Amino acid sequence: MKFSTKLGLWFFFCILIIETGSMLFLHQNVVQTLIDNEKEALLARGASHRDVLEDSFTDNTLQHIVLMESKTDTEVVITDQNGDVIESSIALNEEINFFILQITNDDQVIEADWESQSYIATASPFRSNSGENGTVYMLKSTNQMKGLITDLNHHFAIAVIIILFFLVITNIILVKLLTKPLVSMKEATKRISEGDFTVTLPVKSKDEIGELANSIQTLASNLNYLKQERKEFLASISHELRTPLTYIRGYADIGQKPNLVESQKNEYLKIIHEESIRVSNLLEDLFELAKMDQNSFSIMNEEVQFREFLQTIYDKAYPVFSNSGIELKFNRKEECYVNIDPLRFEQVVLNILDNALKYSDGGTTTIELSKKDNTCKLTISDEGKGIPEDQIPYIFDRLFRVEKSRSRLTGGVGLGLSIVKEIVDAHEGELKVSSEFGVGTTVSILLKEAKNR
Ligand SMILES: Nc1ncnc2c1ncn2[C@@H]1O[C@H](COP(=O)(O)OP(=O)(O)OP(=O)(O)O)[C@@H](O)[C@H]1O
Ligand SMILES: [Mg+2]
Repeated sequence: MKFSTKLGLWFFFCILIIETGSMLFLHQNVVQTLIDNEKEALLARGASHRDVLEDSFTDNTLQHIVLMESKTDTEVVITDQNGDVIESSIALNEEINFFILQITNDDQVIEADWESQSYIATASPFRSNSGENGTVYMLKSTNQMKGLITDLNHHFAIAVIIILFFLVITNIILVKLLTKPLVSMKEATKRISEGDFTVTLPVKSKDEIGELANSIQTLASNLNYLKQERKEFLASISHELRTPLTYIRGYADIGQKPNLVESQKNEYLKIIHEESIRVSNLLEDLFELAKMDQNSFSIMNEEVQFREFLQTIYDKAYPVFSNSGIELKFNRKEECYVNIDPLRFEQVVLNILDNALKYSDGGTTTIELSKKDNTCKLTISDEGKGIPEDQIPYIFDRLFRVEKSRSRLTGGVGLGLSIVKEIVDAHEGELKVSSEFGVGTTVSILLKEAKNR
């Protein structure tokens, strides 16, 4: 069964039960009030006749009362203390005789069953000033009441039909309104599962349905982005592999030519060697990233004196920086103990330093270690060419480079920072990059200080 039909039926039956319940309650109350009013009125009328009789018990009064009642839809029977009828506005019959057998001490309703009896009746005993006792019986035919209640039932039936009609219409509209966005989301997810990520959902509401639509929209754009990225990634990889392989093949071809001078041959072999290293480095990095993606890469954390650890790297890197005319400084403020995998983390620092070296012409590169609120902060800042602001969000993407042209001289393939990010994430550290184009770049890594320190 469709969700909209199910929802519609549920809604309909719930409202139907509530409506039937309240209608029955209302009907019961209206009928009860109506009958109560009739009884009250009859009692009051009997009491007023009683009062008149108590004041002046004369034939004239008796006739007057009977005359009055014969002009109305109520009847009166007046009996003496022996229960014998003195006056009556109605011909006596068995039912009426039964009523007047009932002697009461005060004003009372003696018959209230309007549904099965022909009359409802009250009795008002009197004792006149001149000493006569008796009872005024008031009777009212129930036919009129029954007619009134039949009319009332008709009105109720019409009201129920009208309400049901509007209920069905509102039900249809509400179910349509509620399920329409769900149906369009179902269609959107179906299209996404078929590989079409260009779905747009028009749901704008800020409620749960709107949030769901937003999530689906985000999912679609993320999948679209991933699809695009995969395409670009594959294109970049084949490009990255093709370039060095072209060099290798080209120089191998030239190298095989006869009459080559030994020095030329050596030069070509050197290029072939360099390029093959480049390919194998690229493959190694890709393999590393693939392992990280599969979570099959493990980090062997140990407690490390971070300042000492950085000092060793600094000592190794210093000569390389000097050779390129860049001053490498190490601001070692205080010692900070961290839990890291030293081999992996060396790769992180070397990759960042490698960028500082590659993308600077002179200037100073500074490594700085500081500590604040149980956090060790490593910053590496250079005075190189910097990264344009709009490119910063992408520098952790695989194979992303600011300068798209790839020459042997500008080196990198764009995997360094992706690896850095994966390793820092695996250490639950925080990695930030800030940069000003033409001024320099600062990379900072925040790590929790080792606990038992
Ligand atoms: N310190 C920096 N100064 C200027 N640009 C930088 C710096 N660090 C990174 N970049 C830019 O970010 C890009 C991505 O850096 P990443 O280290 O991931 O790749 P790469 O250095 O090009 O190659 P790889 O590190 O794989 O050899 C670089 O190509 C470069 O354009
Ligand atoms: Mg790099």
